[in-house]
Amino acid sequence: MIDLFKPYSFAGHHLKNRFVMAPMTRARRPDYIADAETALYYRQRATAGLIVTEGTPVSPEGQGYINVPGIWSEAQVAGWKLVTDAVHEEGGTIFAQLWHVGRMSHVSLQPNGNAPVSSTATPARDPKSQAFIYLADGSTGFAEPSVPRPLGTEEVARVVADVAKAGRNAQAAGFDGVELHSANGYIFEQFLNPILNTRDDRYGGALENRARIVLETIDALIAEIGASRVGIRLAPFNRQFDMPAYDDNGETYLYLARELSARGIAYVHLNDNWAAGHSVIGEDFLRRFRNAFDGTLILAGAMTLDRAQKLADANLIDLSAFGQPFIANPDLVARLREGAPLATPNRATYYGGSAKGYVDYPTLADEKRA
Ligand SMILES: Cc1cc2nc3c(=O)[nH]c(=O)nc-3n(C[C@H](O)[C@H](O)[C@H](O)COP(=O)(O)O)c2cc1C
Repeated sequence: MIDLFKPYSFAGHHLKNRFVMAPMTRARRPDYIADAETALYYRQRATAGLIVTEGTPVSPEGQGYINVPGIWSEAQVAGWKLVTDAVHEEGGTIFAQLWHVGRMSHVSLQPNGNAPVSSTATPARDPKSQAFIYLADGSTGFAEPSVPRPLGTEEVARVVADVAKAGRNAQAAGFDGVELHSANGYIFEQFLNPILNTRDDRYGGALENRARIVLETIDALIAEIGASRVGIRLAPFNRQFDMPAYDDNGETYLYLARELSARGIAYVHLNDNWAAGHSVIGEDFLRRFRNAFDGTLILAGAMTLDRAQKLADANLIDLSAFGQPFIANPDLVARLREGAPLATPNRATYYGGSAKGYVDYPTLADEKRA
């Protein structure tokens, strides 16, 4: 039986345990710069073996939500340095999640009011697909994503370069590595999906073409900061944000698994969407993915200690990631170890707002003192 509370090493990183804090957008930075409060939030959670930050936009074009700290400017790098210093002081390891939303944006967030960019001109239109913006009266609220503009063939290299620069910035900010956000309906999934991606250039059509932007981006990051500092998040069979189902979805991700394995990246982080009350990835596919990818494998989605243990013992995953439980339980690892009850996070304060519901959740030790 694997002891999940014991250290785990991979690709030159030494984690104090096998628990990962999953990336979570908290949208609390009106100036788009991580600050001392952001640093406190991550410091409080640094007993996780690995922290993956909230998605951090690689460019103004990559934004789909206001108040989300980015990583394209020097001031933003300085802000993130506060975060990495805090986590390292606690002996933690932290990767930055690099994010470009593609079509999941709104003209009001885009440079010069331009259309958001994507693989496609098809907008996301299911009711849950929403950008978060400043409304005409100055208040904040949700808006239907704007109709996107398909990137020109030669423009793709610019998006790749923006991500590579963000990788360089992440290294300058002291991150141990980066996680490319290639999940949850954002730009890379928009290219991977053959229903959305109807391009007839080298980024559309055959599977190898649809996956090209992802792999070119990974290669650019590797060239910039080295494979041991590069991870990726994938969400096979994801339907979130109006992503249509397609036939070779499984094969698409097994192809990526083989290609990423050949590149020797630090890890793959799979996000399993349990919205329907069950795993969409499923253990059979997880096993096939595991066999196709040689490196460290992380799984997120409605994770429990029991499931984490079973999956690790069955050698299906190496690390288990928890999202929402880390919001209300800054000391989640200690609580899991002690079998202590978990606090329930308040959904109303997931996104935006103040310190409330962000840095004021007590640890078990705090509760005992009170
Ligand atoms: C408030 C919130 C924000 C999230 N933001 C991100 C994000 O920025 N990037 C990402 O890849 N996933 C994001 N997710 C998904 C989580 O990383 C995680 O995969 C998901 O919540 C399932 O894990 P859980 O059941 O343990 O919460 C977010 C989830 C929540 C609840």
